[in-house]
Amino acid sequence: MGGFQLSLLAVVLSILSAVGDQEASPHVDGAPPSKIAVVGAGIGGSATAHFLRQHFGPEVQVDVFEKGEVGGRLATVTVNHNDYESGGSIIHSLNLHMQEFVKQLGLKHRRNVAGKTAVFNGEEVILEETDWYLLDLFRLWWRYGISFIRLQMWVEEIMEKFMRIYKYQAHGYAFSSVEELLDSLGGSGFINMTRRPLSDSLLELGVSQRFIDEVIAPVMRVNYGQNVSIPAFVGAVSLAGAQNNLWAVEGGNKLVCSGLLRMANANLLKARVNSISPVQSGEALQYQLNFTTAAGTGSELYDIVVLATPLQDSLGSGLEFHDFTPPFDHLPGSYHSTVATIVHGYLNTSFFGFADPRLFPFASVLTTDTPALFFNSVASACPVNISAGFRRRQPQEAGVYKVFSAQPLDKSELKTLFRSYYSVQVTEWQAYPHYGSSPGLPPVELHPNLYYLNGIEWAGSAMEMSSVAAKNIALLAYHRWNKQTDMVDQRDLMHRIKTEL
Ligand SMILES: Cc1cc2nc3c(=O)[nH]c(=O)nc-3n(C[C@H](O)[C@H](O)[C@H](O)COP(=O)(O)OP(=O)(O)OC[C@H]3O[C@@H](n4cnc5c(N)ncnc54)[C@H](O)[C@@H]3O)c2cc1C
Ligand SMILES: *[C@@H]1O[C@H](CO)[C@@H](O)[C@H](O)[C@H]1NC(C)=O
Ligand SMILES: *[C@@H]1O[C@H](CO)[C@@H](O)[C@H](O)[C@H]1NC(C)=O
Ligand SMILES: *[C@@H]1O[C@H](CO)[C@@H](O)[C@H](O)[C@H]1NC(C)=O
Ligand SMILES: *[C@@H]1O[C@H](CO)[C@@H](O)[C@H](O)[C@H]1NC(C)=O
Ligand SMILES: *[C@@H]1O[C@H](CO)[C@@H](O)[C@H](O)[C@H]1NC(C)=O
Repeated sequence: MGGFQLSLLAVVLSILSAVGDQEASPHVDGAPPSKIAVVGAGIGGSATAHFLRQHFGPEVQVDVFEKGEVGGRLATVTVNHNDYESGGSIIHSLNLHMQEFVKQLGLKHRRNVAGKTAVFNGEEVILEETDWYLLDLFRLWWRYGISFIRLQMWVEEIMEKFMRIYKYQAHGYAFSSVEELLDSLGGSGFINMTRRPLSDSLLELGVSQRFIDEVIAPVMRVNYGQNVSIPAFVGAVSLAGAQNNLWAVEGGNKLVCSGLLRMANANLLKARVNSISPVQSGEALQYQLNFTTAAGTGSELYDIVVLATPLQDSLGSGLEFHDFTPPFDHLPGSYHSTVATIVHGYLNTSFFGFADPRLFPFASVLTTDTPALFFNSVASACPVNISAGFRRRQPQEAGVYKVFSAQPLDKSELKTLFRSYYSVQVTEWQAYPHYGSSPGLPPVELHPNLYYLNGIEWAGSAMEMSSVAAKNIALLAYHRWNKQTDMVDQRDLMHRIKTEL
């Protein structure tokens, strides 16, 4: 990563801290909202609660409904008294909202424990990382020619444009749709990238088919469980995540969610929201949420509601929409199942062509898009708390491994990958959109004061994307409430911000 991005980061951080919280100003028609509901306490809902508090001030009541665990797709499993991430695990150093949350919450970055990566094609290891970075570059150059450099420039250019969002948001600008947001960052080119296969964009760039098969496809498989036909935009998000400046939260990424809810002074309701309906009383429009807790059913009225969970029918949010005109229903499309299997045992290095485990130098193995393979990746996992003396287990020792696959592993598959094992823990996720299963990008505004966060996942699914959407929705809800139309969907923001400064 070049020095340019580091200096950009410094500029953005200084803007973020200089602008600070916006004061809640009175509703033009009168009162500020008195009650806001957020459905879902994953990173998206927790961050929304935090930003709503920032923008609407200390008086408003913020209720957050969660039917399962705080954290949602950020979760851990325990093996041998240690916790391991089973869902979203990796954060990029330029994910500025996540960085800021961790800083404000006094959480720590988890140290990165070095380990080498290999790519396996079902028969042999075809690509391996060495200790010496320059040698790796040289090898890549030799094997794939100019492809690698072109690709790196492409990803950096996209990231640089994407990072404009932090400036826009620090200046209070909001967008009424994912399309408007993307357009303001990268013009129609960004929107087109949400529709076009990654492989097409890369071939057009001059990246070779071989590089796509041997490097890009394995990265897409480990990050999104899908092939190089996924849209170019999410592909670029995924490739940015394959660079080396990555981190995680000490103690577990989900600590960010519980921390944000606390900092927002939100009321957490352990309840499943069953239905939402608009209620018009005189001039005022409110929303009625009906929900079920351990104690029974309840019903509450809210001025503003944010839905921070995927609304595809198959995901079992259980949320129904009543009395909306025109009727509103579940969204089209489906989510991709990815199974995270955490195994405590001995890796069968023979399977990768290393009869002697002591000679197996890799901490993680990615795979090419090979129909015969029953898994996407296998990697030695680090616990969420790493003590100073922590080291990775050697392959000849028992260790904790994380396997990603599309289907749960059966016994014979486990016996193929592991010589023997002590424990196996399986988490089946509806992990991220099954790209290509929805005709377009879902809406953000469902009704005047009813917002939907997870549409952004169809541009790219990551913790930071949900955080960007959370900030956008808090700003949008605030501007809509206060009828500040000049802060929504403005064009030419780069230029405006320059003249504002
Ligand atoms: C295996 C895996 C690996 C991943 N790896 C990464 C990674 O390395 N880096 C990265 O940035 N991202 C990664 N991701 C993606 C990332 O985890 C998600 O994009 C992000 O966590 C989504 O957060 P969210 O809050 O938008 O949704 P969720 O986390 O899904 O939160 C929604 C919440 O709403 C609750 N809910 C649903 N319906 C109701 C209802 N009716 N009433 C009340 N509550 C309800 C759910 O219980 C859930 O807690 C990964 C995801 C998976 C599954
Ligand atoms: C995006 O697609 C539209 C419609 O196909 C086209 O008009 C536009 O030029 C494209 N934008 C870019 C930057 O390629
Ligand atoms: C990728 O997978 C989809 C099904 O999910 C399939 O339709 C498509 O042909 C595959 N593309 C490639 C390049 O293998
Ligand atoms: C793990 O880290 C978190 C955050 O720093 C800390 O609160 C917790 O006590 C730690 N747990 C252990 C077992 O060290
Ligand atoms: C929600 O609950 C209220 C009060 O119990 C009830 O009158 C209403 O019919 C319920 N709405 C739906 C859609 O179930
Ligand atoms: C390990 O992998 C080898 C090579 O694929 C296979 O023959 C063997 O059955 C696997 N399992 C064990 C327990 O060695």
